[in-house]
Amino acid sequence: MTEITFPAGFLWGTATAAHQVEGGNVYNDNWVMEHTPGGPNVESSGDACDHYHRYRDDLTLLADLGFNTYRFSLEWSRIEPEDGEFSLAALDHYRRVLAACHEHGLTPIVTFHHFTSPRWLAAAGGWEAADTPERFGRFCARATAHLGDLMGYACTMNEVNIGPLIASFGAPAMRGFRAAAWYAAAARSVGSDPARFTPFLYATSERGCETILAAHRCAVQAIKAGPGQCAVGLTLAMEDIQAVAGGEEAAARLRRTLQDVYLEAVRGDDFIGVQTYTRRRCAAAGLLGPEAGVELTQMGYEFWPEALGATIRYASAMTGLPVIVTENGIGTGDDTRRLAYIERALRGVAACLRDGLDVRGYTYWSAMDNFEWALGFRPTFGLIAVDRQTQARTVKPSARWLGKVARENRL
Ligand code: GCO
Repeated sequence: MTEITFPAGFLWGTATAAHQVEGGNVYNDNWVMEHTPGGPNVESSGDACDHYHRYRDDLTLLADLGFNTYRFSLEWSRIEPEDGEFSLAALDHYRRVLAACHEHGLTPIVTFHHFTSPRWLAAAGGWEAADTPERFGRFCARATAHLGDLMGYACTMNEVNIGPLIASFGAPAMRGFRAAAWYAAAARSVGSDPARFTPFLYATSERGCETILAAHRCAVQAIKAGPGQCAVGLTLAMEDIQAVAGGEEAAARLRRTLQDVYLEAVRGDDFIGVQTYTRRRCAAAGLLGPEAGVELTQMGYEFWPEALGATIRYASAMTGLPVIVTENGIGTGDDTRRLAYIERALRGVAACLRDGLDVRGYTYWSAMDNFEWALGFRPTFGLIAVDRQTQARTVKPSARWLGKVARENRL
């Protein structure tokens, strides 16, 4: 196969999110859900990968493998454990993480909100409450004041469209969850009620979408005020939504609610973060399941690395913004399939670059096997395996392969 060289300065990295790797994030809404009997979570995030304490070793490992970028998130509930009460110790922790990134030649991409919110925010109406954007802006301002000079790129919020996306799956655990007993119990345990309790980013209403986009704008303003001059954007969960058998209109409708609304709202940002794992087929009557004969990943969706190139093209055309692939990856127990997946996805990125699209970087999800939300530790997306008893890290062959691609800037 032809050799491909990437542009100088291309970002090569891996991504994580605070709640999925840090461990002990007991002050947020997801922890509450994990510990509410009858809820959708199969297990507690517990110590996760203890990355809160082991970040330095993890960064050393990633830098040694050849990466030049690390995407991670700030845990809002650690930094602001109560409404308006900020923890300098937590801010100092993230300052040390950022300093360690720089020491290791890793450009930090910092996500300010990756699905988890402080319990007090969830209790106050979360992502459907009118004053949440302002509160999120206040958190971003405080965090930027402490950390901004060390940040390379900032993602305000991760996958702002996850609520409508989950709803479109009609996932059994999520269908009618507001009416479920566990939901009421979770709401009660933070001093709220099911009508106002909107944990995670489950906001599916129009108001939810508006609240989230308003929060993004508050965050952009706060982060742009500095210190530092990092590029700011948000990330979207993208799927290559393909129309089949007369499904053009239905697919367009789906793209509209799941992607276009957000892509139109971010014009003017510095970049758009594209996060893509698979494709989805849409017929006139609605969404179809996986196509017979197509390999499935541990997540139950299709092994479809070509979705990355397609969604980069879509996001780029809709926004005119530079694209950073802030997540792409595969949950699999077979590391040879991971390598094959990444290679095909990267060929899609390379084709975009060849066609003149402005793609700035690729961060693989995830640096290590971690807490995959409701599914717990079962899916394994990592380039690095983590022993659940000892926390020992084991580098997988795909990590060495991708690290080499990163180091040589060549595929
Ligand atoms: C998401 C997130 C990550 C996931 C990853 C794998 O897409 O849900 O940003 O937190 O772990 O996508 O499913």
